[in-house]
Amino acid sequence: MQSNMKTPFKAGKPVEDQYFIDRESEIRELAKQIKSMSNVCLLGLRRMGKTSILFKVVKQINDPIPIYVNCYGIPDKRRFASMLSDSIRDGYITYTGDGKYKTAIKRYVKESVGKIAYQLTDMDVSIGQYFKIRMGIKQKDIDPDIIMEDAFNYAERLGKSKGKRFVLMLDEFQDIGSRWGEDFLKRLRSIVEKQKNVCYVFCGSSITFMSSLVEDAKSPFYRQLYKIAVKSLPGKDVKRFVKRRFQLCSYVISDEVINKFMEFTHSIPDYVQRLGLIASHISKDITQDVIEQAYEDMLIELDSEFREMLSKLNQRSGIYGAILTGLSRYDSLSNTGRFIGYDLGKAMRQITYLQKVGLIEKTARGRYEITDPILMDWLKRNFM
Ligand SMILES: Nc1ncnc2c1ncn2[C@@H]1O[C@H](COP(=O)(O)OP(=O)(O)OP(=O)(O)O)[C@@H](O)[C@H]1O
Ligand SMILES: [Mg+2]
Repeated sequence: MQSNMKTPFKAGKPVEDQYFIDRESEIRELAKQIKSMSNVCLLGLRRMGKTSILFKVVKQINDPIPIYVNCYGIPDKRRFASMLSDSIRDGYITYTGDGKYKTAIKRYVKESVGKIAYQLTDMDVSIGQYFKIRMGIKQKDIDPDIIMEDAFNYAERLGKSKGKRFVLMLDEFQDIGSRWGEDFLKRLRSIVEKQKNVCYVFCGSSITFMSSLVEDAKSPFYRQLYKIAVKSLPGKDVKRFVKRRFQLCSYVISDEVINKFMEFTHSIPDYVQRLGLIASHISKDITQDVIEQAYEDMLIELDSEFREMLSKLNQRSGIYGAILTGLSRYDSLSNTGRFIGYDLGKAMRQITYLQKVGLIEKTARGRYEITDPILMDWLKRNFM
């Protein structure tokens, strides 16, 4: 276990092996649903470790063939169709080792470039389908919705013709789901319900969007998805992990200091890794002072990210920043309104938006809280 000696923690990318804490029940449940070809909604706040769970499951299963797609920031439907179809093709080739398919696509591209019309050929239905999407992407007169539909159906056709099944994992789904709206969701629903060889995992950090996808009677996916919520890690597992990681890498830390560590991170996986990593760079002797110093450094590290988020919101309207700042101190809308000098009864649309992107959560009537405790602390310190 030489690699244990290197670094006690890892931050900034999904983690594996000895850096991975728990999530056993989430992984077991997700894998079970996927194997039975159920459609799943995996939801959890930012940095909770959703993508890490997806990656774990991708490694674990090969039937259905897992296809991971990150939907964040995809500019339009054509680009999405392109990415989706390429990912399906690559996933199929990787998981089946079907080299012939790859060669056939290459040969096909060579033979037909420039000649093919936007239609299915009789060659091999799945290759034809793939090629059709590639050709259609550039043709301005073809409706992007049709191209996207084709891309989703490519997995179904390929699966059918090759006797395989797929699971499409759409990470950061709220990004396209909220941007492309009701119409897109309706279309997707009708595609999904017809498919027999494909199931879906919709994953996202906007609790409001993702929950209403499953629970809102008006949602096209109402009661169609099995919901798995990703929350903070179990405290006792984090404690054990932190202690073990520090000790394995020859650091000294007492139980009392570990408790302090727990208070600062709230068992949110991203913060556990960050705080641990920063502390490990300060000293081999992890004291209370070291943890406090590391926490300050972590806030500085997060500063630009938090500021960017705030500035994006403020570009929409200055009221967003004001609401967040107010809510970092008060939990009721009336007190927050008084603090920022604005009648928040008139800002319900903005409140709803902040909920939708997962920054605040309703706790009771007229009461809201900032979902990320570290962001909350940062707001408190930086804005009077
Ligand atoms: N089970 C875990 N054990 C240990 N560390 C974890 C675990 N899950 C996540 N992490 C840590 O948290 C960080 C964020 O995890 P991840 O990217 O999976 O979260 P996410 O929920 O997908 O976040 P986002 O909503 O921002 O996409 C990782 O880089 C890793 O350091
Ligand atoms: Mg993620």
